[in-house]
Amino acid sequence: MAILKVARLGHPILRQQAEPLTRSQVRSAEIQRLIDDMIETLHEYEGVGLAATQVHMPVRLALVEVPSGEGREAVALTVLVNPNVTPLGDERVYGWEGCLSLPDLRGVVPRQRRVRLEALDRQGRPFELEAEGFFARVIQHECDHLDGVTFVDRMDDLLSLSFLREFERHVGLETGPIED
Ligand code: NI
Repeated sequence: MAILKVARLGHPILRQQAEPLTRSQVRSAEIQRLIDDMIETLHEYEGVGLAATQVHMPVRLALVEVPSGEGREAVALTVLVNPNVTPLGDERVYGWEGCLSLPDLRGVVPRQRRVRLEALDRQGRPFELEAEGFFARVIQHECDHLDGVTFVDRMDDLLSLSFLREFERHVGLETGPIED
C-alpha cells in the first residue's frame, strides 16, 4: 500500500476524460493495487471521496466514504467503477464542498438532492443504489472528476469561495454542507 500524490488544480489530468475499465481490468492486480492505494490516500488526507484522475490515473474509478458526525449520515467505503449517475427528481440543493485537489478552499455548490447510481464494485460486479443529501453530493462531485470537472466549475458564482481558515471563522463550520 502507498499514499499517492494528489494532483492539484492546474494539472492537466484533472481536466481529462477518464476511460472506462473492463471487468477483467477491474480484477487485475494493477487496478486492485490502485484501489488499495487510493483507500490509503483517502484516509491519509481525511477526504470523503477520491477519484482516480486525482491520483494521475485517467480511469473511471472513484471512492466514497463518509464518516459519521456533523449531522451527516455515515456511508461505508464504496468503490465506484464506471459510475453512471442520473438525477431522481429535479430538486437541487446548495451545500459547501471542498476538494483534495483544491486544498484549503471551500465553496457553495448546487447539486441534485437525489440521484441513482449504477456502477461496478471492486470485483467488477454491477450494483445500483439511490442516494440523497451529502452522499448524493459526494457521488456527483467524484463522478464529475472523471469527466474533468471540479466543484468550482459547478458553482453558480464565486462569491462564496473561501479559504478554509476564513470559512471556519466566518461560516462557523469545520467541514460539511449547509443544505437547504
Ligand atoms: Ni474533489
